[in-house]
Amino acid sequence: MKKFAVLGHGVVGSGVVELFYKNKKSIEKHAGDDMDIKYILDLRDFPDSPYKEKFTKNFDDILNDEEVTAVAECMGGVEPAFTFTKKLLEKGKSVSTSNKELVAKKGDILLKTAKENNCNFFFEASVGGAIPIIRPLHRCLAGNDITKVAGILNGTTNFILTKMYNDNMPFNEALALAQKLGYAEKDPTADVEGHDACRKICIISSLVFGKHVYPDSVYTKGISEIQLCDVSSADVLGYSTKLIACVTKTGSGKILPVVMPMLVPFENIISGVSDVFNAVLVYGDGIDQTMFYGRGAGKLPTASAVLGDVIESVKHNVTVFSQSWESAEDDSFIDSPENFSARWYFRTPAGTTPTTGISNTYDSNGDGSEYSFITDEILTFAQAKKIAEEVQAVTIIPVFE
Ligand code: HSE
Repeated sequence: MKKFAVLGHGVVGSGVVELFYKNKKSIEKHAGDDMDIKYILDLRDFPDSPYKEKFTKNFDDILNDEEVTAVAECMGGVEPAFTFTKKLLEKGKSVSTSNKELVAKKGDILLKTAKENNCNFFFEASVGGAIPIIRPLHRCLAGNDITKVAGILNGTTNFILTKMYNDNMPFNEALALAQKLGYAEKDPTADVEGHDACRKICIISSLVFGKHVYPDSVYTKGISEIQLCDVSSADVLGYSTKLIACVTKTGSGKILPVVMPMLVPFENIISGVSDVFNAVLVYGDGIDQTMFYGRGAGKLPTASAVLGDVIESVKHNVTVFSQSWESAEDDSFIDSPENFSARWYFRTPAGTTPTTGISNTYDSNGDGSEYSFITDEILTFAQAKKIAEEVQAVTIIPVFE
């Protein structure tokens, strides 16, 4: 019998408990052993829970119980999650987390601790919710030279953009609905301003390129400045507006991770990814490109990924070495965002709109006061910003290709 513990009984933690007991029989079959949850850690009381006898407020109950060999960390935030996770790994207990902030900020330390103690620090649930992306990247796709990973990695902002555009729902109403549905972070600023997507692209970049990419090294812009007139203009010009996180291997031997709202051409498969769904495109020399798609947030989709890791922990009592990266002494391997290259969408006041280098313009507000257009040429971010100054652009947004 394998016993595990769940840290946190919020949206994800309660989902882990619910899904485990719903599918216990088949989970045990996959694990090759009987399994049960021995403890659920939470400071709150849950007197009506059918599992109330499993609740503890004392982390040491879990840490010092030798029967507990695996732990699901679903608390969120860096502390106390980091201290608890490190202590558990030092005792040889594998930890599976859904906590993006923890992995993005402290993943290198925790992976090293797991290695030193012959156990695992798993984090499939930290990127893309239900989508299996971490294991495919370091296992199934390990034979490739991966040149780029890009996609929609935040369910809340994709949900908000979809509701704003499809249902004309105001931003705040769409955000409140995302919070109600359990998609948003505790502080939804992390979703709206792109920090959550940034943490996820940090995890992907670190895993694929082997060195820890810290959130502070990534140019990050969220969706708070996106205007409905830009979304509608982009639509008329043949694009949907998405918050894209991407990392590219650049010619200089560096990598360039960024998070920005981008316009995705309708013919690109991810332009149709709506609501809370996420999609990740992986580009490599063997695969050309492959896409992963699924629910990027929510109780049971995220719990599914955590449980997959817990089952894996129970089966493997040695460290999975391929799922690892080194600490980075500096960020000299990260290219400047000024070099990010794309075609660009501009919205400019009437009278400043260029007449060359663009294929068509659109009257953004329908009153002739501003025009939207997309450049024919690929420009760096630095070049696009210079032109934006010259034409007094109100906004610029890159095109995703
Ligand atoms: N707030 C996150 C999102 C949760 O909306 O994608 C899943 O990581």
